[in-house]
Amino acid sequence: MDFNNPQKPFHLKPQDFGKDFVFGVSTAAYQIEGAHSVHDKGVSIWDHFTSKKGNTFNNQHGQIACDFYNKFEDDILLMKSMNIKHFRFSLAWSRILPNGTGTVSTEGINFYNRVINFCLQCGITPWVTLYHWDLPQNLQNQGGWVNRKVLDWFENYAHVCATHFGDRVKNWMVLNEPMVFTGAGYFLGVHAPGNKGLKNFLPAVHHAVLCQAMGGKVLRELVPNAHIGSTFSCSQITPNSNSAKDVLAAKKANALLNRLFIEPLLGLGYPTKNVPVLKRIEAYIKPHDLENAQFDFDFIGVQNYTREVVKHSYFVPYLRAKIVKASKRRVKTTLMDWEVYPPSIYNMIKHFNQYQGIKKIIVTENGAAFTDVLLDGNVHDEDRLQYLQNHIEQVHKAKKDGLNVAGYFVWTFTDNFEWAEGYHPRFGLVYTDFSTQKRIVKASGKWYKDFLGS
Ligand code: NOJ
Repeated sequence: MDFNNPQKPFHLKPQDFGKDFVFGVSTAAYQIEGAHSVHDKGVSIWDHFTSKKGNTFNNQHGQIACDFYNKFEDDILLMKSMNIKHFRFSLAWSRILPNGTGTVSTEGINFYNRVINFCLQCGITPWVTLYHWDLPQNLQNQGGWVNRKVLDWFENYAHVCATHFGDRVKNWMVLNEPMVFTGAGYFLGVHAPGNKGLKNFLPAVHHAVLCQAMGGKVLRELVPNAHIGSTFSCSQITPNSNSAKDVLAAKKANALLNRLFIEPLLGLGYPTKNVPVLKRIEAYIKPHDLENAQFDFDFIGVQNYTREVVKHSYFVPYLRAKIVKASKRRVKTTLMDWEVYPPSIYNMIKHFNQYQGIKKIIVTENGAAFTDVLLDGNVHDEDRLQYLQNHIEQVHKAKKDGLNVAGYFVWTFTDNFEWAEGYHPRFGLVYTDFSTQKRIVKASGKWYKDFLGS
């Protein structure tokens, strides 16, 4: 089947997904807000990490980003004009609690109150993520996610957010992609805080697993009628060949990338059988931790962009498995060198759906970066448009096949700061001219507007 045939007609309408199905857009604080040191805002690990040379593409940072801090009214009005009724954004911990704990910033609370109130005034439902990777640097100075004290710090932060915003915000997500912030930030060192190795990674994973459930419990207790989830990065894994070694390598990668954070949540423990080195996490497990890691979320946020092909490799310590780059496989790729492979989203919805105890799945992120060309004030991003249509079709197929999927959010609204990759990969439905902060709705954005309005 040709997933990238631009001629392929798209016939679906939002109603075809059922009446309660939600469509929206997703963002994250550090990637859009800017205003990194306004008022009493504290320094976050991303402020700190990007201030050091060599950590990001061309040393780019989010000090201004999309200036959402100052432009949020315009952006939310633009969303409204594009028929977007659900907006996912995250709270910057260091804006709310500049030191991570202690004094609550009135300015920080006011900012998010203004964003939330303006959304509601525009008929847009806010979907709030507590943690999208920007830990206060003061907490990192004490070890960050590696220090078990993060349980207390996070509980307090969740408490502050729930009490200040829970009267108006009903849709919550606790963590964003814990596998990515622990793996890239505490194992590979390519994301903030730039730490490496198992001695950082394993405690960070275990503490994130505990905070994932604990955040859910705090929100449940303090927010009446809350609809609570947490989000998970995931990719279909295909072995590079049928050889026993490649098949085993794929199993290991699957355990690490698709099972590590969901299984302890459901009371299944860590997938140590497939990845023996994970047994070392036991050193950080205290009595009752595995019970406390459980929580019955109202929904699971699935975030999918691609699939991975995995092969055996002697050279990769611990895992003996490695990802075969998409550029080496002669497949269609995005600017991130991620294979365009829409069935992956279907298979990931299916993967999460098969666990007992999952009430509902929402695709909280899906999207693509391609080279966008601004021509006579327009961006004809055919590739992205096609990508989105093909993925939405797969989500529809999942729904039709009886999988319990109830929403879809495009990553992302405006082009923004793509972490270590800087501003080069543009994922937006709306083009951002970073020198003027002008927004230009791309062809994909116009299409999404028409689709949502149909
Ligand atoms: C996952 C992350 O949640 C988001 O912050 C990131 O920009 C997108 N995927 C694209 O890489």
